[in-house]
Amino acid sequence: MCGIIGYVGNRQGMPLALDALRRMEYRGYDSAGIAVADNHQINSVKRAGKLRNLEDRIAEIGEENFHGSTAIGHTRWATHGRPTNENAHPHMSFDGKVAIVHNGIIENFAPLREELQRKGIEMMSETDSEVAAHLLALAYQEGETAGNFQASALAVLNRLEGAFTLLFMHADHPDQIIAGRRSTPLIVGVGDNEMFLGSDVAAFIEYTKNAVELGQDNVVVLRQHDFEILNFDGSPAQGRAFTIDWDLAAAEKGGFDSFMLKEIHEQPAAVRDTLAGHYHNGRVTLDEQNLSDEDLKYIDQVFVVACGSAYHSGLLAKYAIEHWVRIPVQIEVASEFRYRDPVLDERTLVLAISQSGETADTLEAVRHAKSQGAKVLAVCNTNGSQIPRESDAVLYTHAGPEIGVASTKAFLAQVAANYIVGLALAQAKGTKYPDEIAEIYRSLEEIPAKIESLLACEDQVTDIAQLLGAVRTMLFLGRGVGYPVALEGALKLKELAYIHAEGFPAGELKHGPIALIEDDLPVVVVVPSPRGVTLLHSKIVSNIQEIRARGAKTIVIAEEGDTAVEPYANWLIRIPETPSMMQPLLATVPLQFLAAEIARQCGNEDIDKPRNLAKSVTVE
Ligand code: G6P
Repeated sequence: MCGIIGYVGNRQGMPLALDALRRMEYRGYDSAGIAVADNHQINSVKRAGKLRNLEDRIAEIGEENFHGSTAIGHTRWATHGRPTNENAHPHMSFDGKVAIVHNGIIENFAPLREELQRKGIEMMSETDSEVAAHLLALAYQEGETAGNFQASALAVLNRLEGAFTLLFMHADHPDQIIAGRRSTPLIVGVGDNEMFLGSDVAAFIEYTKNAVELGQDNVVVLRQHDFEILNFDGSPAQGRAFTIDWDLAAAEKGGFDSFMLKEIHEQPAAVRDTLAGHYHNGRVTLDEQNLSDEDLKYIDQVFVVACGSAYHSGLLAKYAIEHWVRIPVQIEVASEFRYRDPVLDERTLVLAISQSGETADTLEAVRHAKSQGAKVLAVCNTNGSQIPRESDAVLYTHAGPEIGVASTKAFLAQVAANYIVGLALAQAKGTKYPDEIAEIYRSLEEIPAKIESLLACEDQVTDIAQLLGAVRTMLFLGRGVGYPVALEGALKLKELAYIHAEGFPAGELKHGPIALIEDDLPVVVVVPSPRGVTLLHSKIVSNIQEIRARGAKTIVIAEEGDTAVEPYANWLIRIPETPSMMQPLLATVPLQFLAAEIARQCGNEDIDKPRNLAKSVTVE
């Protein structure tokens, strides 16, 4: 889950690569480095810690010492080897001629390492990646591939097992970069007299909107004026060209203190854009689809697989699909799914939800599902990423780039997309009449404007967070669709403020968690609409009384006009009226603000990059 940039052009490579790493720091940020090729020599620099440390080191050495217009750069999230200077990328070969950067895991690195050590090559790092640099230098020095950069690179790639994107630079060929990918992302940016490589388009969006996505086991030879795509056996291959519809502003903070706050404010657009184009002429449609209406009709059970916030959105898919389609839906944390041997067949639809489309746990769950004959439908925010690529059908969320590690707008967009999937299934199986589907879709389309008005709660939520003072632990309660909201609220607080937080179904409180309640413990309660299942509403009102009676301070999220909760709320945050199933798209918003503000008060200044986390996790 590292971030990679490659550049061959006419600009200075060092400042360009630094800029690209800054925009990709969200992909990993425990060390960074850059190598520049010029005049048959490679100069490389790397540092542990945030990008700032690398910038300081470059300033110390002098930027003029990194002259050259061919560069590779890397921002790391450690897998093999601690985040140290030595383990940072780029890695150089023993003869100083090769520099490589790597994202992923080389699974057979141990035997390769031993083989190199037997040849007397000393390892400089604890990483799995370093072997690739030495192997390339050796292949270029001796044997059939001697003196041939492309043949050497192909020979090395063919020896590697695992998941990797690798960029190779050779001092004898300072005008090109050769890169290969298997199961981790790599996009080519096509400029005028300059070419780019990036783990995602944020790396080069400032310079070009024309991009080409590489297929599985593809190699690209990048030169200033052109590029060539090959298979690992050297035969020609084709990429998929696309135009990037984000602009640079979308990848920057836009005046907010953090990407996360910007992204919370972008939620009306994220939901609106996700819904756009999926309902016309009285019919719900998905995106790229190798699943016909007949296929969907044939489905008799659904499994949802996802991680983190995407998993919480998946819980809501379960509520919606069971309610609208009347087929059983099981949901599983993706990392558990394939190890449990779930019962799948060709009538099973697996819904794989992932913002990045790269999460290894979810990808492996998709592969397992396919191997068992199930149909896979991906909900994904990243065009061309691996999970949609391996799925039968995809529904893209259009949240735009999400830079904050803690998911906000992508989560709401996932919920909206999951509901579209539910409606597409209900339509295919005939469990809802067309006018019922139209009405549900209309209520979804009203959500963006409601989120817009709800964003005004930011000041109130900030005040509440300040009045709460020092918080050690916090509970979040919900019932029905409010329960996944409670889980998401607790996750946001853990991620951002490093505070112990837990979400519970409010009804479960009396079976254990109530023992945690003590004087002044803050408890957030997500209250279902009084206009929905009335029994649910009155039950949760009793739950609030139970916790208040034991000294807790209650932060109550309730619909406008719900007066029954007023006597029991220390603080009451109002959300617009909406049908029950849609309420999570609103109730989540104040909890995002709450976590961000509590984090700020706890002294976590960089809420975009919480400690120990990474935006996309490409290891299991
Ligand atoms: C990481 C992130 C979470 C995210 C999860 C799933 O753990 O820190 O915020 O929800 O991955 O990511 P995905 O890209 O698959 O939605």
